Amino acid sequence: MTEIANLYETIFKRKSVRRYDPNPLDEKTLAGILSFLNTLKPLYGGIKTEVKIVPQKNVWSLQPKAPHYLAVFSETKDGYLTNVGFMMQQMDLFLSSIGIGACWQGIPKLSKEALRSSNLKFVIVLAFGRPAETLYRKSISEFKRKPIEQIRDFAGADELLEPARLAPSAVNNQSWFFTGKEGVIHAYCTKPKFLMGAWIRIDIGIALCHIWIAAEHFDKNVEFINNEKVLSSHPKGCHYIGTLSIK
Ligand SMILES: Cc1cc2nc3c(=O)[nH]c(=O)nc-3n(C[C@H](O)[C@H](O)[C@H](O)COP(=O)(O)O)c2cc1C
Repeated sequence: MTEIANLYETIFKRKSVRRYDPNPLDEKTLAGILSFLNTLKPLYGGIKTEVKIVPQKNVWSLQPKAPHYLAVFSETKDGYLTNVGFMMQQMDLFLSSIGIGACWQGIPKLSKEALRSSNLKFVIVLAFGRPAETLYRKSISEFKRKPIEQIRDFAGADELLEPARLAPSAVNNQSWFFTGKEGVIHAYCTKPKFLMGAWIRIDIGIALCHIWIAAEHFDKNVEFINNEKVLSSHPKGCHYIGTLSIK
């Protein structure tokens, strides 16, 4: 199976894994993860990012421990948080597809040593390791998500929007909304609430990643463009992120 097919299938069964086998992964598996890092597609060109595999001792967290963390660093240009969400969701799906548990974690802090390993701004970690709980959901009904009618106001693009609906988000906030017509999807996030600003922008990047993977799966070409000047109005309470042109 091709990589995209694997990632697409994983969208419909993945879940956050929070309990891990404490033993580190073997070198071969870690090398495979490092090599997949080099293939991550950015949403926006021109934003420098770095991802490092960091051991547990360099991560301060009150949450259940994982043997490894992917620490994500980025330049802080416009759209960098959404770009991080888009890129690292490819990794979340990849890890799940090869039998490794993972969980986005917005709360942990890095040790000074780990922070010094990059000149870029530390954004977030993805915890990962061998799962000590079930890795997959058995059916879509196990996803706790809003119905599709609550995240879009038009019909005809559900083969791409259903994968977005199932995307993970911080505290399962699902703060995304889509408008559009055939071949065009305008993506919005809800206006950030207290302390949720950064996470909401990462979340919409994650949902856009699922749309992109679904489009690739259906042999469609997606271009991500800014149509803000063309759009006369936006849905109430929503912040425009960008437009997907799908051919
Ligand atoms: C940006 C972001 C930050 C998150 N932070 C945490 C976290 O700090 N701790 C945690 O246990 N889960 C965290 N999560 C996981 C979400 O709680 C989880 O994705 C959501 O509840 C949906 O569940 P699912 O991933 O199992 O489908 C985070 C997810 C995202 C996208």
